[in-house]
Amino acid sequence: MALVDVLAVVPPGSADEALARKIDFDRLPRHVAVIMDGNGRWAAARHLPRVEGHRAGIESVRDTVETSARLGLEVLTLYAFSVENWKRPETEVSALMSLLRRYLRAELKTLLKNNIRFQVIGQLDRLAPKVREELQAAVTRTAINTGMHFNIALSYGGRAEIVDAAREAVRRGLRPEQIDEDMFGALLYTAGQPDPDLLIRTSGEMRVSNFLLWQIAYAEIWVTETLWPDFRARHLLKAITEYQKRDRRYGAVSSDPVGALK
Ligand code: IPE
Ligand code: IPE
Ligand code: MG
Repeated sequence: MALVDVLAVVPPGSADEALARKIDFDRLPRHVAVIMDGNGRWAAARHLPRVEGHRAGIESVRDTVETSARLGLEVLTLYAFSVENWKRPETEVSALMSLLRRYLRAELKTLLKNNIRFQVIGQLDRLAPKVREELQAAVTRTAINTGMHFNIALSYGGRAEIVDAAREAVRRGLRPEQIDEDMFGALLYTAGQPDPDLLIRTSGEMRVSNFLLWQIAYAEIWVTETLWPDFRARHLLKAITEYQKRDRRYGAVSSDPVGALK
């Protein structure tokens, strides 16, 4: 997957094409994580019920998954439902769950065709058995795929994930000296995957809302005012070009201190 694969789906002469051509494919983020926010506000601006915002957001998910796979990202993680989102009205929660099931039914073929591995991260025991079974079926069907890893964070909380990992360490009878950052990372839901290099949040909110707290230690953050249902390939391409301008220092000194002043 590379530039030609992205160009195959963007309109010739479009802003999308210009952005795609700016991307350095040798320095792609390995893992992009997205906090998909603003569905409710999108609907409110149109005097529609909140669920219509969630429904419209499915098209954004489709576009983002396809573009990410065509770019050749190794991992894409989409934050679909947080542990805190269980506090929402039951009607909204069940509408979200049925949209998720509909998405899975409609998209499984595309995931298979594009060699995408699907995975769900979060406290899945809190989901209704039917939802869990359908998710599990999609995970199993795509397990042999070797392309992009697509994680959906569902009933997900970063602190809950860290607590779960600590409990697992105790269950395995690990001694304190056996625990280090690498081995702790291997107890998280994202075991074996690179940490996100780029964290995108839509709808302008400057917070991480309990998302991948451990894994985003050194992620570059890009926030857009665009509401999730309006998010398309060009926003992802823009985020990646911005990411590629960043000077990732990891606490060390800059390799280009003059450039970093710009
Ligand atoms: C994001 O949109 C989707 C979920 C959190 C499930 P919101 O539903 O949070 O929309 P806003 O933030 O209220 O606009
Ligand atoms: C974060 O959005 C969770 C998801 C995108 C699933 P929220 O809308 O729940 O976050 P807050 O409440 O604005 O922090
Ligand atoms: Mg929100």
